[in-house]
Amino acid sequence: MSLPRRFRAQAEQCLRNGSPLTAALLEGAAGDDEAGGPVHELLAPFAADPSGSVASLRFAGALHRLVLERQAPDLALHYPSVGGTAPVEEAWPVARRVVERCAEQLAAGLRRPVQTNEVGRSAALYGGLLHVTARTGLPIRLLEVGASAGLNLLVDRFAYEVAEGVVLGEPSSPVRLRAPWRGRFPAYAPLEVVSRAGCDPAPLDPGSEADRLTLTSYVWADQVDRFERLRNALQVAAARPVPVERLPASAFLARELAEPVPGVATVVWHSVVRQYLSVDERVEMDRLLAEAGERATPDAPVLRLSLEPERIAGSTFRFLVELTEWPGGRRELLAEALGHGPPVTWV
Ligand SMILES: C[S@@+](CC[C@H](N)C(=O)[O-])C[C@H]1O[C@@H](n2cnc3c(N)ncnc32)[C@H](O)[C@@H]1O
Repeated sequence: MSLPRRFRAQAEQCLRNGSPLTAALLEGAAGDDEAGGPVHELLAPFAADPSGSVASLRFAGALHRLVLERQAPDLALHYPSVGGTAPVEEAWPVARRVVERCAEQLAAGLRRPVQTNEVGRSAALYGGLLHVTARTGLPIRLLEVGASAGLNLLVDRFAYEVAEGVVLGEPSSPVRLRAPWRGRFPAYAPLEVVSRAGCDPAPLDPGSEADRLTLTSYVWADQVDRFERLRNALQVAAARPVPVERLPASAFLARELAEPVPGVATVVWHSVVRQYLSVDERVEMDRLLAEAGERATPDAPVLRLSLEPERIAGSTFRFLVELTEWPGGRRELLAEALGHGPPVTWV
């Protein structure tokens, strides 16, 4: 698929998921690319990138970074993330001038991978872990692949207001997910995460100002709730950081799954990561999990819990929360969610 078509498909997703500003910018960029404008020159080196690496979101993130760095005050007037209130419909011509003016910085931004670390996805993870607890009766050893800044490894340190008067997780947490669930809720039970570890080939450090800027730049600029969530999660991470190792999924899992660990449920979690893996890496990850599954026992179970997109048709995706459990290798659909998590509808 050509870049303009991919940009338009992503624009549709953004619109459906509540970001008219990102949608307008991507539509504008698609048109400018087709018309041979400054966007065409900017994007030409990225035209053959795999579609899973989502050049459109790298472009949106690069523009947002310039705004956050105060390098595009004219465009900032349209960005709610920095207090802008100017109309969405007038944003593209301004952004186009920024593309002309700041092509080099934008190209540098486009060379970075998408690094959204979305804490809303913890609504799916928390419920999935409750399922694991109910099934196994064991405390959790949590391993996250593609953990970015490791914010979702803090899953049990956020507050989930799942029903009137029912707050799961850590009720005093500054990260509050309000009414994140629908459908048939997982059984409530105390959740015990006894260890947590994550990997990412390009990990971000919540303690670093530069990395916090990177994380913020990938939040869609008109989704102010998500900014607040990220800011609060960074605060939780600052108090109790979880290091994320600089490793690809295959190397991390080869080490972590080498031996069964008795007395805990080993849960390998990944959200919106599969599309960023090379084919070899995906195959290797599946193989390592299946092999660990062969070694799993009822006292040392291995579970794969994921929130990943599935294409329904054209550019329409749904996000599935799935669980595979070993011994046995039974795979089941637990819930459907949105790309950034809530609402998570349990089936
Ligand atoms: C869209 S982000 C999602 C981050 C996080 N899972 C979340 O849901 O907030 C995709 C992540 O996958 C990571 N990634 C890319 N290739 C990877 C690999 N081979 N192994 C593990 N993670 C990888 C990227 O660096 C990035 O942090």
